Amino acid sequence: MTKAGLFLTFEGIDGSGKSTQARKLADQLRAQGHEVILTREPGGSPGAEEIRSLVLEGDPDRWSAETEILLFTAARRDHLERTIEPALAAGQVVICDRFADSTRMYQGLSRGDLRGLVDQLHSLMIKREPDLTLLIDMDPDTGLSRAKGRQGAEERFEDFGPDLQKKMRAGFLALAHEFSDRFRIVDGNRDMDSVAQDVTEIVQAALR
Ligand code: ADP
Ligand code: TYD
Repeated sequence: MTKAGLFLTFEGIDGSGKSTQARKLADQLRAQGHEVILTREPGGSPGAEEIRSLVLEGDPDRWSAETEILLFTAARRDHLERTIEPALAAGQVVICDRFADSTRMYQGLSRGDLRGLVDQLHSLMIKREPDLTLLIDMDPDTGLSRAKGRQGAEERFEDFGPDLQKKMRAGFLALAHEFSDRFRIVDGNRDMDSVAQDVTEIVQAALR
């Protein structure tokens, strides 16, 4: 008999604290003796990390909206085949910083209504949804100022500014409603430890 793994994702606007919380959760679960893979999208496998540079660096008009959906989905497929599915099959806990819900939002909403196309490609090439998705919900302006505090070449999406952040926040809340069986909303407008405590409670319940 194979052990069933657990597939957890963090979603939310830029700067909401996903990476911070994913890291804290991974440390905590490892300390409890779980085998944990901490990974991220776009990226998470060597090929997908290469695609990450293609989509997150350079001119915002580098790719058409449709090509961008293909690139994010190609990265996800590689990540799924090489990292996520083998880990779940081995009974591990996979914690992923963003997954398909981010494509539903960023590629589905930010450059026109392309959600239908995103969903079609998802059902053809990805199929899998997480067991549990933690949406870190927070004030868009605070998120943006936190995200801007980080330096780096990956700034294509953060460059879209406050209006996109607001639209994404509303979109994520609507998505949580649409997939209410797997989404849990966590209030990110608090200090890291308070947010982490809520995350812990939700995940411990899922592990039981
Ligand atoms: P995301 O992965 O969602 O973009 P990060 O975890 O990278 O967010 O956090 C963005 C920035 O905000 C980082 O500098 C991080 O240290 C800081 N940060 C994360 N969570 C909090 C919090 N609850 N309160 C204040 N600052 C935070
Ligand atoms: P990430 O490194 O998680 O950024 P942040 O820590 O600022 O939240 O993701 C990088 C960017 O990629 C982010 O602006 C959202 C975008 N993105 C998409 O547009 N589509 C996707 O499918 C994914 C996974 C990310």
